[in-house]
This record gives sequence, structure tokens and C-alpha cells, in this order.
Amino acid sequence: MTQIFDTHAHYDDEAFDEDREELLEMLPQKGIAKVVNVGASLSSCKRTIELMNRYDYIYGAIGVHPNETAELTEESFEWLRQQCQSEKCVAVGEIGLDYYWDEPEREIQKSWFVRQLNLAKELKKPVVIHSRDAAKDTVDLMTAEKAGEIGGVIHCYSYTKETAKTFLDMGFFIGIGGVLTFKNARKLKEAAEYIPLERIVLETDCPYLAPEPNRGKRNSSLNIPYVISVLADLKGVDEETVRRAAWENAHKLYRLTCEGKC
Ligand code: NI
Repeated sequence: MTQIFDTHAHYDDEAFDEDREELLEMLPQKGIAKVVNVGASLSSCKRTIELMNRYDYIYGAIGVHPNETAELTEESFEWLRQQCQSEKCVAVGEIGLDYYWDEPEREIQKSWFVRQLNLAKELKKPVVIHSRDAAKDTVDLMTAEKAGEIGGVIHCYSYTKETAKTFLDMGFFIGIGGVLTFKNARKLKEAAEYIPLERIVLETDCPYLAPEPNRGKRNSSLNIPYVISVLADLKGVDEETVRRAAWENAHKLYRLTCEGKC
């Protein structure tokens, strides 16, 4: 059975303070072979660096989430640039636009989104994009900055299949997690049916968004098989086909070698 690559997790979150070490030591034995821990604020980037330095199978994405961009300054941006250059930092992220929380004001979110897109371009690393209730501005800025030349993933995909086509045309992967298993996820299921399997990567966004039957509880990479099962049904293929595709796609996304297992 092909192992699992969780392309988007937040194991630095305080929800894991009680048992982080136990959990992270157990994951590889449970078939979770690789994880990218994603920074969202400057402090979570620091904790992400600690995790990727400590655990072989954990990689990092370093970047500042749109709702945290008010804390960025030229000085901290320079710090980010330095950290992004480390070998185990596989992407710049998560970066983007979030008009659901709409904080800080949109112009600030947009300007740091563009700066971080350009940082990724400069360092030749892919981006992890967070976009919520901001499809048009995300597409417009990505188009203006030629994001197709950067590549990356639209994480926790929440838009229509029509918008998915736009991101696919730019060469992006689409990140799908626990929401796919929710009863009210009709729009996402439609999008997931449409998106070719070779462009889908699996993610948790843990501690958030645990799939059914664990919805509402703390999420972890151990729940990804529930997402695989629903995705296999939607695609009309067996679970191993989904596992294998997702494993290969995640390595392509983050430009990692898969040790002969692809
Ligand atoms: Ni996230």
C-alpha cells in the first residue's frame, strides 16, 4: 500500500502541545511517510523550522498567512527570505488573500501576497496559496505576477470547478482535505470530480477540518484515509490508485525525490 504525504499540516499549533512528540514519533509507523508543516505567522514559521530540523520526515513551508500580514515589516521580510533558503524549506507559504476574516485591510493583504509571490519566484520555490472568499483578486494577482512560472498548490480548495480550471491552466495543484467528506460539500465534490487525479494532493490543515466521522475533533494526518476513501468513490477508482497518484503529485509539487517509490 502506498504511503501518505500530508502536504499541509500545522503541528506547531498549540492544539498539539500535550502530545506532539508522541504523535510525531508515531506517524511514520502508521503510514504517514512525509509531512509539510506550514508556517502562517512569524512565530509559527520559527516553530516550523524547529520541527523540520528535528524530524527527518517533516519539511517546512515558510510564509505569512494573509490575516497575519499586519505584523510584517521590511526587517521581518528579510528574515523570511533567509529562512526560505534552507534546504528543508520546500515552499513559500501559506500566502494569499482571505476576505472572510477581511483583516488586515485588503490592500495590505494584497501587497504582502505579491511580495511573497516574488520571493518564491526569486528563490525558485513553489507557493502554498490560501484563498478564501477572494477568488477574483487571487486569480488577478497570480496572473499579473505570472504565478504559472512559480507553481504550487491552492490549499484547502473551496471554489467552483470553473475557477479550478483557471488554476489548473496555470499549472497548479489543488489541495483537498477533510471538507470533502462533509455532507454539505456539494460544490467541493463537483470540483473534485472535475480536477484530474494527477493534479490533486492530500492535506489535513490539522488541527482544523477533521473529516467525517471525526468532524469537529482535532485533526491529524491519521485521518487522511477517510478523505482517500471518499475521493476514490468520486473518481470511480480504487483507494490504492488515489494513494499512488497523491504520493507522486506531492513529490512533484514540492520538487522532492521519492526514493524510487514513484
Ligand atoms: Ni493552513
